[in-house]
Amino acid sequence: MEFKNKNVLITGASRGIGKATALAFAHAGAKVGINYRTNTEEAAKTLAELPGDGHYLFQQDISEKEGPEALITAYISQYGQLDVLVNNAGISIFHNIDEVNFEHWTNAWESTFKTNLFAVSNMCYWGAKAMMRTGGGRMVNISSRGAFRGEPTKPAYGASKAALNAMSQSLAKALAPHKIYIGVVAPGFTETEMAAVTLTSAERENLLRESPFKRMAQPKEVAHAVLFLASEGAAYSSGTIIDVNGASYLRS
Ligand SMILES: NC(=O)c1ccc[n+]([C@@H]2O[C@H](COP(=O)([O-])OP(=O)(O)OC[C@H]3O[C@@H](n4cnc5c(N)ncnc54)[C@H](OP(=O)(O)O)[C@@H]3O)[C@@H](O)[C@H]2O)c1
Repeated sequence: MEFKNKNVLITGASRGIGKATALAFAHAGAKVGINYRTNTEEAAKTLAELPGDGHYLFQQDISEKEGPEALITAYISQYGQLDVLVNNAGISIFHNIDEVNFEHWTNAWESTFKTNLFAVSNMCYWGAKAMMRTGGGRMVNISSRGAFRGEPTKPAYGASKAALNAMSQSLAKALAPHKIYIGVVAPGFTETEMAAVTLTSAERENLLRESPFKRMAQPKEVAHAVLFLASEGAAYSSGTIIDVNGASYLRS
């Protein structure tokens, strides 16, 4: 897939799936804006690994209400135009209903929705405004297998990703007349820092057996699906959700 001179912005791209996506876009010729929240050292390492030039760092906490507008404004003043927006940044907090107190429970729901849903809806809002000014664009939102099969230890996470799916499909309808196309990628367990706590626990062997591949996803496999949805030929796939879960959970 070719993205020569396309301007791409990826939230949460200092590590994990966002980093793999930044590398894949840069290898395909794109100019990549790397957003992250706090870890400048890690983000700078990612920037240094990208082939080609025209890549920049954008530190911004997108869970703050003004964050997404500030990020899009900074991006447009650097690049002039936004062709592809990948809403990847997300958090996941354990809050087992039979273990946590009420304060922990409500904090987990509020923080999760602030980052995984409200920040993404605000990114879509300001991203769409920028794309409308230049005749269109693509957005890819990163969801999760947990939206479909349940997340018993992190119910807010599953709910936030289910809401993200519904929001993305509504926006695919609303924005198609503006030539803005939206896809969703729903990974299963992927070898990143976010999944590390679970993937290094005694549960690992059971989790590996969930997939007939008997392994987790690699971040670059998720990136591959992102690039497909952002590619020229994928416009008519707007509103679709691609599973990247090694056939561990098959929905009809
Ligand atoms: N890993 C999995 O098993 C898995 C499975 C399904 C779906 N997903 C989804 O895939 C996406 C990426 O996950 P990952 O595993 O690559 O995560 P990760 O390794 O934890 O990386 C998260 C990235 O998001 C950034 N971030 C977090 N909150 C932010 C905020 N408020 N503003 C800006 N940046 C923020 C972090 O930046 P700092 O380091 O600077 O804070 C970091 O760059 C998430 O949406 C996640 O829900 C992951």
